[in-house]
Amino acid sequence: MARHLASWGPFLALGLALQVGLGVGLGVSGILLGAGPALAVDADGGSLFQAHCVGCHVNGGNIIRRGRTLKMKALERQGINSPEAIATIAAQGIGQMGAYGQVLGPGGPERVGLYVWQQALGGWSTK
Ligand code: HEC
Repeated sequence: MARHLASWGPFLALGLALQVGLGVGLGVSGILLGAGPALAVDADGGSLFQAHCVGCHVNGGNIIRRGRTLKMKALERQGINSPEAIATIAAQGIGQMGAYGQVLGPGGPERVGLYVWQQALGGWSTK
C-alpha cells in the first residue's frame, strides 16, 4: 500500500504544479491582454481599486475631501468626463491625492480608470 501511494506521489505533484502553473499563466495573460474582453478588464480594474483606492474612496466616496467623490455628479463638476481622465488622476494624483502610477503598474491606471468610470455610470451599485 505504501509503495503504491509512493509511486503516485510524483504524478500528483506534477498535476498540482500544472494546475498552479495554468492559473498563474492565465492571470498573467489577462494582465497582458489589457484591451481584452470587457469582463476581464473589469475584474482587474476592480481588484486594483480594492487594493489601492478603496481606502479613501470606499463605495466611490471620499473620506478625506467629502465633496470630491467618484460619483458621476462630482466627476462632472470637475470636468472629469472619461475613463482616461480618471486614469490620468490615478497615475499622477490630484490636489491632496498622491500619484499611484508606480503601484498600479503598466496599464494599471487605464484599467482602474475604466472600472471607476463604469462604477460611476452605474451609480456604484455593484461594489
Ligand atoms: C490616501 C487617500 C486616497 C487614495 C488612496 C486615493 N485617492 Fe483619489 N482622491 C483623494 C483625495 C483627497 C481627492 C481630492 C483631491 C483634491 O484635493 O483635489 C481625490 C480625488 C480623486 C478623483 C477626483 C474626484 C473628484 O470628484 O474630483 C479621482 C478620479 C480619484 N481620486 C481617483 C482615485 C483612484 C482611481 C485611486 C486609486 C488608484 C485613488 N483615487 C486613491 C484621496 C485618495
